[in-house]
Amino acid sequence: MRSPLIAGNWKMNGSTELVEAFGRAFAEARLPSGVEVVIHPPFPYLEAARRAFSETPLGLGAQTLNPFHSGARTGEVSGTMLKEFGVGYALVGHSERRQLYRESDEDVYDRLIAALSADIRPILCVGETLEERDAGRTEDVVLRQVGHAMARLEPAQRARVVIAYEPVWAIGTGRTATPQQAQEVMAAIREYQAGYDRDLAAALPLLYGGSMNASNAAELLAQPDIDGGLVGGASLKVDDFLAICQSAG
Ligand code: G3P
Repeated sequence: MRSPLIAGNWKMNGSTELVEAFGRAFAEARLPSGVEVVIHPPFPYLEAARRAFSETPLGLGAQTLNPFHSGARTGEVSGTMLKEFGVGYALVGHSERRQLYRESDEDVYDRLIAALSADIRPILCVGETLEERDAGRTEDVVLRQVGHAMARLEPAQRARVVIAYEPVWAIGTGRTATPQQAQEVMAAIREYQAGYDRDLAAALPLLYGGSMNASNAAELLAQPDIDGGLVGGASLKVDDFLAICQSAG
């Protein structure tokens, strides 16, 4: 049985005040049993979040990481450093990293391996553009991205990976994939994983991301192969994000 995971990706947004508001709200919140909730704030807020979330069910995540543990890489942050702040998850391959910072499938693989070696669970982000969807290439693109990261992993490593399907055309647009569209792609990802190991596929947490909000979360999360959400804009509003978490039960 897979436990629901709701991750809030703040992207380059937030403040110490917002961190503290989330800490207060989630200290009082009653979440459905078994629902895991993680906030991925910008790096500068990790220490404030670790303190503010200490008496809450909120976990901590990172939005990316450098493939190296340390060294001459100005401006970068390593998995080893993130682990010091109690980070349990790290996004790898988010479409904004792929598009804005030209991260290739191989760059994503390197970051996924770095997360695993720091004992951080990677959330592998995959998804097609509208052009690729319109060309009927959705599954080809998504399974290529999944396969490039998963093919070389050992079984124990594969079991640690979370996969987030985020259609690029639904990110930040308000244009959410329909539950049927999302379910179709996520079932294909799970079927692909079953090619390695049926038990692994059954246990794999699959998240949907792309304009998930308080009003559409319940229907999306009711789909058989959607085990949680990777939430952007709605994760910056305490009440909306709490409502999404409560609909995950
Ligand atoms: O990583 C989650 C993000 O890409 C989705 O953003 O604003 O469409 O929920 P949003």
